[in-house]
Amino acid sequence: MPVARTHCVGLVGVTGRLVEVEADVGPGIAGTHFIGLLDTAISEARGRVRSALINSRFAWPDARVTVSLFPATLPKRGSIFDLAIAIAVLGAAGAVPAQRIAAPTFLGELGLDGRVRPIRGVLPAALAAAEAGVRTVVVPALNAAEAALVPDLTVVPVATLAELVGWLRSGDLHRLPVVADAASLSQDAGQAQHDDHTEHAERGEHPEHTGHCRNGRRAEDAPRPFGPYGGGRAAPGPDLCDVAGQPMGRKALEVCAAGGHNLWMLGPPGSGKTMLAERLPTLLPPLDQESALEVSAIHSVAGTLPPGRPLLTRPPFMAPHHSATMAAVVGGGSGGLVRPGTVSLAHRGVLFLDEAPEFATTVLDSLRQPLESGTVTIARAVGAVTFPARFMLVLAANPCPCGLQGTVGHPCKCTPAGRRRYLDRLSGPLLDRVDVKVKIGRATRAELLADRHFVETSATVAERVRLARERAARRLAGTPWRTNAEVSSSALHRDFRLSDAAMAPLHRGLDVGTLSARGLDRVLRISWTIADLTCKDRPGQAETSAALALWLGVD
Ligand SMILES: Nc1ncnc2c1ncn2[C@@H]1O[C@H](COP(=O)(O)OP(=O)(O)OP(=O)(O)O)[C@@H](O)[C@H]1O
Ligand SMILES: [Mg+2]
Ligand SMILES: [Zn+2]
Repeated sequence: MPVARTHCVGLVGVTGRLVEVEADVGPGIAGTHFIGLLDTAISEARGRVRSALINSRFAWPDARVTVSLFPATLPKRGSIFDLAIAIAVLGAAGAVPAQRIAAPTFLGELGLDGRVRPIRGVLPAALAAAEAGVRTVVVPALNAAEAALVPDLTVVPVATLAELVGWLRSGDLHRLPVVADAASLSQDAGQAQHDDHTEHAERGEHPEHTGHCRNGRRAEDAPRPFGPYGGGRAAPGPDLCDVAGQPMGRKALEVCAAGGHNLWMLGPPGSGKTMLAERLPTLLPPLDQESALEVSAIHSVAGTLPPGRPLLTRPPFMAPHHSATMAAVVGGGSGGLVRPGTVSLAHRGVLFLDEAPEFATTVLDSLRQPLESGTVTIARAVGAVTFPARFMLVLAANPCPCGLQGTVGHPCKCTPAGRRRYLDRLSGPLLDRVDVKVKIGRATRAELLADRHFVETSATVAERVRLARERAARRLAGTPWRTNAEVSSSALHRDFRLSDAAMAPLHRGLDVGTLSARGLDRVLRISWTIADLTCKDRPGQAETSAALALWLGVD
């Protein structure tokens, strides 16, 4: 009985698992049967695979075709299995040699005409395949750069099913361009090459398929960070030197960047809250290799990776609109792959809620789980999906619904109760998790008109942040934490105790009731960050006092 076996990867969130795809072509009434837990998308695969085969001039077996996806318990979503199913059926029918399809993993969706279409989630799928010991992965040409980020994996990009079958029949791997592994990729291709790539992408081609790419990758195909995700040589982005005045706002931003603290800014419209928040990512260090892959994998599943530039090396900055739905913020979607929400797209970066009190209360409440655990779980009929979601939260708010409170010449008409209700939307569990709170006033005329050549740039502040983070990392070596904001309460009081003199301002705060028990821990964490920024081995009274002021902020 001709049975052929190959592999694909099933994704749950950003976790991939190798799936064995088996096809059996045997006697019986002609028809196609699928075994395994399948959602609608995969039933549709039956139609797509059949049409793709026929339109690529391969006969669909006139027999009983059984396709089994194993393990059956793994929920299999999306069109990622199309290519593996087609290849297994062709193997069982004797159209391609079964032994050549056994080892590689095939990922990709098929168009009805036999084209191999790009899919979401290639990076986490390729990572999972490599982890399971797979050495060769066949992917849609447009996803090849993404798969090539995985070390020690031979990536074979294909554009059509016919091309792939030709390769499998001849057994000549080098008939198709093989993408080298990420180690050989340069991180710094220029803008001209970026344009070249964009042009290809717009024409729906892939540079690897323009003929002169063979057995390796051209320098210009190397991933290069760009746009909001990376620096590169693109046009200069936002810089802290654009912000006039705002010494408290700038200080708060620096402390948050250094310690990974959450931030709340309260101030009238036009005072520069949005400006400041947008500049926080410019103060953060680039992602390390592990985080870059982790963040890129999430964006791969979401389908938000910039075309051809698959490795996100800068901390992401996500700023959802206040009308954003729960599904958009937390993640969701039916059928196919569950899409990560904004909280996961902000993983290892910044989640900025501008006009925070305008967000739906359910959305604000949904931030509690990720703030607590660094993950978000989306419940689905087929099972729960968990995505990473460890971000720095930045909230901005006007002092009242009309935003005019405290402004000269335009009296605010909001009632005291209306104002309270407005800010109360943020209170409680969410603000409990915010370390640094600042009131932002309007910059003065003198500040706005001063020569900005003398204003500190993002690069200068980012260097101080880098050094402070290094100090913290040295102190926290051997613990599960990377930044001061993550250190547990018990460790703060056990391993990182401060002198009585340093604690004096906090004792007073506890005595008079301005500082709560939870607040105490937050102030201690900020104190350590301020000490790191000022190159002190441990916080003294000056640091705890400054930290208390940053925590009390808008109270
Ligand atoms: N400190 C400042 N330095 C330079 N420009 C500023 C400053 N504050 C405000 N501006 C100018 O005002 C514009 C509005 O600033 P921004 O959007 O950051 O204010 P905001 O506090 O977020 O206001 P809103 O509450 O209306 O959202 C900026 O684009 C900038 O041109
Ligand atoms: Mg704003
Ligand atoms: Zn008002």
